[in-house]
Amino acid sequence: MQTTGTSLKQRVIGYLVDQAHRPRGFVGWANGRLFALRPSNRKRNVWAVALLDVRPTDRVLEIGFGPGIAIAAFAARAVRGHVFGVDHSRAMVRQAARRNAAAIRAGRVHLVQASVERLPSFGDPLDAILAVNSVGFWPGPVERLGELRRLLRPGGRIALVSQPRCPGATRDTTARAAQELQDLLTRAGFTRPRVETLDLDPPVACVLAVNPAGGPS
Ligand SMILES: C[S@@+](CC[C@H](N)C(=O)[O-])C[C@H]1O[C@@H](n2cnc3c(N)ncnc32)[C@H](O)[C@@H]1O
Repeated sequence: MQTTGTSLKQRVIGYLVDQAHRPRGFVGWANGRLFALRPSNRKRNVWAVALLDVRPTDRVLEIGFGPGIAIAAFAARAVRGHVFGVDHSRAMVRQAARRNAAAIRAGRVHLVQASVERLPSFGDPLDAILAVNSVGFWPGPVERLGELRRLLRPGGRIALVSQPRCPGATRDTTARAAQELQDLLTRAGFTRPRVETLDLDPPVACVLAVNPAGGPS
């Protein structure tokens, strides 16, 4: 009985993690609604966008935008710029497109269904890049972050956000996640890493860093 109970629980957890990785079908759609409605999700996304200090003419990119909360916050700031978003889930692209329909029609928001390992072209260099609770799903994160760094102008900023959603996550879980993100960024050639924390339950870490001017390519 114990074994059966444990394996069922593990299978359910595995299924939910898989759905967070690439939301799909009805459960994926419902997950996206949950991401969008959960107050802590909304707060962490809006907070992270504010930390990136986006200017009106900035060109910004979010990887793994889910239902598009941060995309909307970016669009409210980069009013004369461009907001690009990439997510490999068709269900999430649809939800985010509905949420940001007016800015898409105005030609300011551009959402693409693609994976971080096969990015489309974004034209001119970017000013800022964001990923919220997404890096943990990426294959080869150091290589992916190196590719993202090369899309940034010298001095361009990146913010990687983690709010651990594993059962029993604590302040320590968040601190360990922040350290891991900081290590990945440094290995990918970013400089001046700094960690900000938002006091939710569990706390949210945002690791910010910069593409060095004249740094490694
Ligand atoms: C846990 S959700 C977070 C969504 C949103 N950032 C938020 O905070 O509400 C992770 C998102 O990352 C996307 N994602 C995961 N791996 C990806 C990859 N390799 N390429 C593009 N998107 C990815 C998923 O489709 C999903 O929308």
